[in-house]
Amino acid sequence: MPIINRIADRHDAITEWRRDYHQHPELLFDVHRTAASVAEKLRAFGCDEVVEGIGRTGVVGVIKGREGGDRVIGLRADMDALPLPEVTGLPHASKVPGVMHACGHDGHTAMLLGAAEHLCETRNFAGTAVVIFQPAEEGGGGGREMCEDGMMARFGIEQVYGLHNVPGLPIGDFSTCQGPIMASTDTFEIEITGRGGHAAMPHLAVDTIVVVAHLITAIQSVVSRSVDPVQGAVVSVTKVDTDGDAFNVLPETARLKGTVRTLVPEMREICEQRIGELVRTLPSAFGAAGELKYVRGYPTTVNSGPETDFAVSIAEKVSGSGRVNPQQSPVMGGEDFAYMLEERPGAFMFIGNGDSAGLHNPAYDFNDDVIPAGCSYWITLVETAMPRAA
Ligand code: NI
Repeated sequence: MPIINRIADRHDAITEWRRDYHQHPELLFDVHRTAASVAEKLRAFGCDEVVEGIGRTGVVGVIKGREGGDRVIGLRADMDALPLPEVTGLPHASKVPGVMHACGHDGHTAMLLGAAEHLCETRNFAGTAVVIFQPAEEGGGGGREMCEDGMMARFGIEQVYGLHNVPGLPIGDFSTCQGPIMASTDTFEIEITGRGGHAAMPHLAVDTIVVVAHLITAIQSVVSRSVDPVQGAVVSVTKVDTDGDAFNVLPETARLKGTVRTLVPEMREICEQRIGELVRTLPSAFGAAGELKYVRGYPTTVNSGPETDFAVSIAEKVSGSGRVNPQQSPVMGGEDFAYMLEERPGAFMFIGNGDSAGLHNPAYDFNDDVIPAGCSYWITLVETAMPRAA
């Protein structure tokens, strides 16, 4: 069962849905138009139940198989776009200035809808498929909010699967790994306070800028000297500014921002603790003071073993074993599907978007040629996980 015939027939219609979402991108939880369209389609397909407003603007559809069965499998897509001006110049380019689908969530939503339509039509399985459309993947924690709304228990979901496109991987190729596949994403803000003064009389001031320079350098030692090199981590300082703007003034305060990415909880602890120690102690050695605000973001996305093996076998059914990498290296980006995988076993799978601009790039566009493989993956997963009696 490679590409499902009926999906090939529906390719144009699903492409139209995708391009409609692309033209009307929405941010974070404000995905009202998209969520309403998704719910309307799910009802038109004949879902047994469609619930809106889960995790604020999330939508869930329930599809029961032709044969009864206890098993319940969750399939998840994300619906939100990014605050980025699109430069593709395509006929279906964003109509909303400064907002675009630069991560392909329009494609993810359309592919899961295509699968839902087919599953509603055929119901060729024994059990229940739950299709999950979440808001606010791009930093808002929409997946967390849907979980906090009790989604898993309410719909009896036992396992949950996610699918994300990846530029650079050929169309129809799949890639994943067991265990951590994406990083935890924490953020930090640091404020350094010295003593402002005349730039020509530094001995009468406490030069905040020199402290900041030492602190940024010291922070590099967190990963290089404190983190187990086999486990790895990333600490990046991404913004530096001071309250000074003159050639002859030493500013009194400075602020840094940055992000911490890790794949295992122990390294996350070490990074948070070491950055804290440096901010507390290093500035004081120079007569300045440091204050840290460390915020824990998305947890690590961890694929469970048996479900990952199962997802790989499904991708192989769709595209052939030579086109599925079951042992890719984890990536240090984050994913709020992590919250769903904290609650239930499951797997996050990547699908090739071909030779396109990168994710979050203003020239990016989801490749509609991915649709047949993506829809077939979802449908094959449901029909294989919950087969009808022979
Ligand atoms: Ni994304």
